[in-house]
Amino acid sequence: MPIFDETATVDQVAQAFVPQIKGRTFVITGAGQPSIGSQIAKAISHASPEHILIASRTASKVEPVLSAIKEIDPSIKATFVQIDLSDHDSVRRAAKEILAATSSKIDILINSAGNMAIKEYTLDKQGIEISLSANHVGHFLLANLLAPALIAAAASNKEHSTRIVNLTSKGYTISPFRFDDYNFSDGKTYDCWTGYGQAKTANILFSYGLTKHLRERGVVSFAAHPGSNLDTKLGSHLSVEDYSDILPIAKRNTGRDFVFEEPRFKSFEQIAATPLIAALDPEITAEAPAYLENSRIDETYEYAHDPKNAEKLWKLSEKLVGEEFNY
Ligand SMILES: NC(=O)c1ccc[n+]([C@@H]2O[C@H](COP(=O)([O-])OP(=O)(O)OC[C@H]3O[C@@H](n4cnc5c(N)ncnc54)[C@H](OP(=O)(O)O)[C@@H]3O)[C@@H](O)[C@H]2O)c1
Repeated sequence: MPIFDETATVDQVAQAFVPQIKGRTFVITGAGQPSIGSQIAKAISHASPEHILIASRTASKVEPVLSAIKEIDPSIKATFVQIDLSDHDSVRRAAKEILAATSSKIDILINSAGNMAIKEYTLDKQGIEISLSANHVGHFLLANLLAPALIAAAASNKEHSTRIVNLTSKGYTISPFRFDDYNFSDGKTYDCWTGYGQAKTANILFSYGLTKHLRERGVVSFAAHPGSNLDTKLGSHLSVEDYSDILPIAKRNTGRDFVFEEPRFKSFEQIAATPLIAALDPEITAEAPAYLENSRIDETYEYAHDPKNAEKLWKLSEKLVGEEFNY
């Protein structure tokens, strides 16, 4: 297997892992054009997957991605399911549609949908702060509703590993999960970077929770930080100055200095490489759960992988979606 570094492109990764893509079913959330999810969908299309299902919010942004897949390989089944991850009724409806469209067999689920640093304190339909809602809680519900299909895929394919990848961010170092005040006291304690930091910490803890709950059924999970890139829509509402607010906020929340990573930015072709490695690399299966950055497994702050925090978040998430999940 090639050893990738921070310069890896998503196409190089897809080329390296053709056997892990060929004939398999991928569900990717948040893959409107342009996004990390869209890059992953297009890259794997060169390696003959059976089915790529995109679950995303806006149909018109996914249409060019589906067309690109069909252009690359018309034999791939390419499906769109509309979902609003911040609306639990929508997630439940979409999960049913996804299970029907995939005949309840999913090999790889990549949770890439998300938002970042929403300046105004905003609640979802259920009353949950919108960063936590769209980045984590919606994915918690979706992944658990789809889990039977991942378990079925794992049972029928012992050769390749069945995985759930949660897109996180180095932004997790801005804030631990705020178990005592996750909804920011009705906005009184809210700032947009702490909102993002908490949600991205939740993405990592969720990978630990998923692996604990599902490993015996053949499913493992990784959290992947893709790197930073300004070509996607994630930060299109922010100015360069907005990012300087991160430093004092992270220091206040964690007691540590926030360090902008190296390389500071990745190209659009590089930004989806690490999440795709997390989804496919057969050599890391036994290391799950883990966090990846710059194409390899890396360490995280204690608060992002503490098993007690992972279980506490699992229980809180069950409360927020009104359903318990045991495997
Ligand atoms: N780009 C970066 O520099 C960077 C850095 C670190 C981490 N990340 C992480 O990578 C992931 C993907 O980011 P990106 O750069 O691809 O962002 P993006 O370009 O903004 O794409 C996000 C996608 O998620 C969808 N989405 C947002 N809210 C949704 C909701 N409530 N329900 C369903 N779909 C929803 C969007 O749908 P619409 O098409 O309707 O907008 C879009 O397709 C995020 O988790 C982010 O935190 C990105």
